[in-house]
This record gives sequence, structure tokens and C-alpha cells, in this order.
Amino acid sequence: MTMAETGTRSCSDPVILNQWHAVADLNEIRRGPLRTLLLGAPLTCWIDDDGTARARTESGGELEVRTDYGYLWTTLGEPDGGVFAVPETYEDDRRTLNALTVGIQVSAPRAVENFLDMAHFPYVHAGVLGEEPHTEVAEYRVEERDGELWAVDCVFYQPRAAAASSQAVLAEYIYRVPHPYSAMLYKSSPSDADRMDAIGIFIHPLTDTRIRAHLFLSVLDQVSADQQIRRFQQEVIAQDKPILENQHPKLLPLDPRAETPIRADRSAIAYRRWLSRLGVTYGVIPALEAERVGGESGALWQR
Ligand SMILES: [Fe+2]
Repeated sequence: MTMAETGTRSCSDPVILNQWHAVADLNEIRRGPLRTLLLGAPLTCWIDDDGTARARTESGGELEVRTDYGYLWTTLGEPDGGVFAVPETYEDDRRTLNALTVGIQVSAPRAVENFLDMAHFPYVHAGVLGEEPHTEVAEYRVEERDGELWAVDCVFYQPRAAAASSQAVLAEYIYRVPHPYSAMLYKSSPSDADRMDAIGIFIHPLTDTRIRAHLFLSVLDQVSADQQIRRFQQEVIAQDKPILENQHPKLLPLDPRAETPIRADRSAIAYRRWLSRLGVTYGVIPALEAERVGGESGALWQR
């Protein structure tokens, strides 16, 4: 199977077609088959009687499948290798789980960019991930490592950084973007001063403007119940969802002049540049096109 033989905005972007996409939490499809879309193409995924995860297109084509980190990953193209590594998941004192899967009416890159953005914490997650007057985003470094985008040395004042938090902290953050539609965040753990909790957002792109976001956790918390850990992430995402759904355009503009930053969102700019360099065209407004459509001022895309 190459591309979807379907009507609705099917994907012709080889960079995105040739990725593994996290389509379902394995626990979700243990309860029954899931009929869904991937990049506009209808597909079904399920767990066989012998426990094998499977996926096929509407026309019956069997798709390749991976089951890393508790998800069913599949592809409409030919990925170069397996799903990106998350080495923390091999540390057996961590708790690794899908905190939640949530449908959001937005493009995958908008959701990833929001995940990378610390500046919104005091406003959108007040009293949890941030708090006024601690609104300043301190300088941090953005770099490329082995083709991945990393933001390091990030710190942010957080009243309640995690489910296990008992006090406000200056939380240390590291962001890692190993995949155009997935990102990891490592943050100082309230449970272990020397190690970091790992949190991932793995996007299932239904179409270019509709996603399901899987919130993946690999945390050092041995105390909180699964339900408490999940509820914390659910509360955070419930605050992000309406903000994301109100973003216009839903596609992420890659033109550096679009949406003139009102604050120092360095990682957002780096992420947009990185997507441009990869040649991603699905879920975004490519830089050249934005220039053509937006005219000399690019005013069409400004907030
Ligand atoms: Fe947020």
C-alpha cells in the first residue's frame, strides 16, 4: 500500500508517509477493533486472538506494525528503521503508561509546538505548571543531535510540577523532538533528585487538521496511583485543548515571518525551521507557499 485511495485530504508528503505513527494505545484495541483514519486514509487496527497487533487499510491491505512503548505504530510508507528509541523505558524502576488519548481539532505540528512552549505555562496552566508573576522564560539552548531537535538547560518555576509534587520548584526541562509529529520532554522528578521523568506526546494524525494525541509517561513516581498520575495529565491537556482548537490557521505556518513572535519562543522557531529542513509539507503551510498566499507582508498569518 502506498497512498490512500480515499477522498479526504490524503497525504502525498513522503517525509510524513514514511514515518511510524502511534495510532492506538494497545489497551484501547484490546477492548475491540478501532476503525480510524491515518493521514486521511481509513484503516482498522486490532489485536488478534493470538495477541498480535495488526492493522489494515479499508481495501484489505495489511500494514506493517510496531508495538513500542505500549502503542500500535503503523505506516503508509517505508520507514527507515524502527520507531525512535526511548532508552528510559528500559529502566525497570520507572512506571510507563499511556496517561490519555485525546482527540483535538488541530494539526499535528501545532500540538507538538504547543508541547515545546514553556511561555504559556503561567497563563494556561496557572497554579500547576506556572504562576504569575514568574512568567519569564530563561535563556536555553536549542541544538540538533543526530538529526533530532533538542532544547536543553530549560528551567521554569512550577507550583505543582507533577502528580507527586508537594511544593513549588524550579523545574529543569529538556525537550527532544525525534519525529516530526512526536516529542519527548524530560523534567526533574519530585521522586528522585538525580533523574528525570520522561513525558511524550505521540500524535496520531487523522487528517492534516485533526489528531489524537497520546500522552506517554515513563516516570519515577512509585507512590501515586495510576489514576492520580493520569488525572494530573488529563487536567493539563484539558487546559491546552481549547487553546489549540482556537488556533488559526490550524496548519502550522513555516514561514519565519509568519506569526511574529511576541515572546522569545526559541524552540517554536527552531521546530518550524527543522520541519522546513526535513521537507515536511503535511500539517503545515510550507514557507514558500505562505509567501505566495500571504503576499509581501505575510499579514494573513499573523495573530
Ligand atoms: Fe500546555
